[in-house]
Amino acid sequence: MTVSHTSNTEHRGGGKSGKRGLDVRSGKTNSQSSLLSHRETLHTQHSNMGDQKMRQATKFAYCPYSKFRVGAALLTHDGTIFTGCNVENACFNLGICAERTAISKAVSEGYRDFKAIAIASDLCEHFISPCGGCRQFMREFGANWDVYLTKPDGSFVEMTVEELLPASFGPDDLRMKKVNIRNEF
Ligand code: THU
Repeated sequence: MTVSHTSNTEHRGGGKSGKRGLDVRSGKTNSQSSLLSHRETLHTQHSNMGDQKMRQATKFAYCPYSKFRVGAALLTHDGTIFTGCNVENACFNLGICAERTAISKAVSEGYRDFKAIAIASDLCEHFISPCGGCRQFMREFGANWDVYLTKPDGSFVEMTVEELLPASFGPDDLRMKKVNIRNEF
């Protein structure tokens, strides 16, 4: 897990995956450069439009019931970014989260290989944390990619899907050896 702030940078290494040790020479975590490059891509690809993509996405949030705006920006392996917002419904349980909107948009256009997803909300004192359903939805496309939990001031926490959803159930589990249950369906 890595915690950072755009103006007063603070990084903490030691994520459970063990890939994020502290580099003593630079004082930076191993993941910092990739973090920054993801972030820079998510952040500046449309900098002429003046805002972070995920934060822009919150502006499209359709949340008349919760009044809780969420935006997401999903970075694919080839640098394409898909945004998403939460879309609620008068039948409350049909609402969809911002992360799942972004991932579904990407998958429906042929993308399944993701580098990172950044999530934004209007919470000023807490990093927006993805719900359990969204963690599982992310995990479908791998456990080893990055999730940025952000605040409106630009500070963020970086975690992997694995850190957010340890000991997860995924596509491979369906292919594992099972006891013979022939004729029991
Ligand atoms: N929400 C998201 O879009 N993403 C999350 O990770 C947390 C929650 C949305 C769902 C609902 O529209 C609103 O926030 C309040 O739960």
